Amino acid sequence: MRISVFGLGYVGTVTAACLAANGNQVIGVDVVQDKVEDINAARSPIVEDDVDRLVAHAVAAGCLRATTDHEQAIADSELAVICVGTPSAENGNVDTRYVERVAAQIGAALYNRQKERFLVVLRSTVLPGTTRSLVITTLERTSGRAVGQGYDVLYHPEFLREGSSVKDFYHPPKIVVGERSPSTARLLLNLYDSIQAPRFVTSLEVAEMIKYADNVFHAVKITFANEIGQLCQRLGIDSREVMEIFCADTQLNISPVYLRPGFAFGGSCLPKDVRALVYYARHHDLRLPLLEGALPSNDEQVERVLQRIERYRPGQIGLVGLAFKPGTDDLRESPLVTLAERLLGKGYQLCIYDPQVQTARLVGGNRAYVKQHLPHLSRLLIPFLNDLCHCDLIVVGHPMPDDTWLNHWLEEDKIVLDLVGKRSRPSHPGYEGLYW
Ligand SMILES: NC(=O)c1ccc[n+]([C@@H]2O[C@H](COP(=O)([O-])OP(=O)(O)OC[C@H]3O[C@@H](n4cnc5c(N)ncnc54)[C@H](O)[C@@H]3O)[C@@H](O)[C@H]2O)c1
Repeated sequence: MRISVFGLGYVGTVTAACLAANGNQVIGVDVVQDKVEDINAARSPIVEDDVDRLVAHAVAAGCLRATTDHEQAIADSELAVICVGTPSAENGNVDTRYVERVAAQIGAALYNRQKERFLVVLRSTVLPGTTRSLVITTLERTSGRAVGQGYDVLYHPEFLREGSSVKDFYHPPKIVVGERSPSTARLLLNLYDSIQAPRFVTSLEVAEMIKYADNVFHAVKITFANEIGQLCQRLGIDSREVMEIFCADTQLNISPVYLRPGFAFGGSCLPKDVRALVYYARHHDLRLPLLEGALPSNDEQVERVLQRIERYRPGQIGLVGLAFKPGTDDLRESPLVTLAERLLGKGYQLCIYDPQVQTARLVGGNRAYVKQHLPHLSRLLIPFLNDLCHCDLIVVGHPMPDDTWLNHWLEEDKIVLDLVGKRSRPSHPGYEGLYW
């Protein structure tokens, strides 16, 4: 393909060099003359392993050149990749002025050329919604044409890491393309024919958000490891050995387990153990903001659900599930018990369905916990899901075997607030997923 790459920084240079090495005709565009001259002199404007060699080779083969003339670059290409910087603004927001400027330049060039088919691919990291609200609107304004009329736009997040960016280009963890209209992504994916990696075609907004979810998770992981390291050092323990064993557990630790948006955590272990480590750290004058933030953030989840319920002012509320997770009768520190306690405290009528929980069979700490938090539990428990039919609002706190009951309640005009949901849940005005 004939491709223009806007922005010859770390991402743009690597992208341009690798696409050219793969046999495409690439024109790099930058506002900095020195960077353009570097490329045209077969030198890389950035220091990165293997990029010098790729640039030299591609320029010598006539597959790569650079210019400051954006109009010429658009005229000579059928696909433009935007790789300009999106630095932090003073208030922490993303400064998107370079993206906007390039979109305006591309739009103006498209206006002049009235090309038959052109693809604009945004690679810069931008907050969800930016491709649609900034890039597409700018292109439409400056090209004089609505998106879809001769050109289209994709969002294609970049996952390379400086230092190993060429290797990451050829061996990416995944290839994600957000598209506005079906099958546009296919045109871009053709460029990756020779690359083995899982491919995900999704909406523009999901693609934009994935980049942030990835990077924030990396930041959280590093912070987590460092806070564990601090604690270990204070305890005289080798933190590297701890984290090595930690990472070897791919069943629970380095795995999709516990990475699904949903309700708060609870039970007899997680809250207690987080509390203990935070206490220990404070006692030893250690500051661990990430770990300290876990329990307050968890409490917020319960508050959020309460607010969502209160919006409906329901007369009678049904709760499916009470134990801290399905398949157990352990009620200790269950966030559903906290939710029930708070609802009763606010004067709501509540009935609870949890077939695992039988008050007569509760023993020990579990029994004591219920006595303290839900002393009249036996009066609230109902034996059959059918008994929830008189409720106005039903909170699904444990997964249901299938959607039969859910659909039935929705047909009966009940509000269903789903805290556990699967991805494909009914789209119905009465159905509300917690975060989906
Ligand atoms: N650096 C990374 O490791 C990395 C990884 C993934 C994603 N990203 C994202 O990719 C984007 C680019 O990052 P980077 O590190 O390559 O940035 P960078 O600052 O190294 O390069 C940006 C380039 O854009 C050029 N530019 C600015 N306005 C221009 C215009 N109107 N026309 C042409 N060129 C213009 C600048 O002169 C500069 O050379 C950012 O959004 C960043 O968040 C970066």
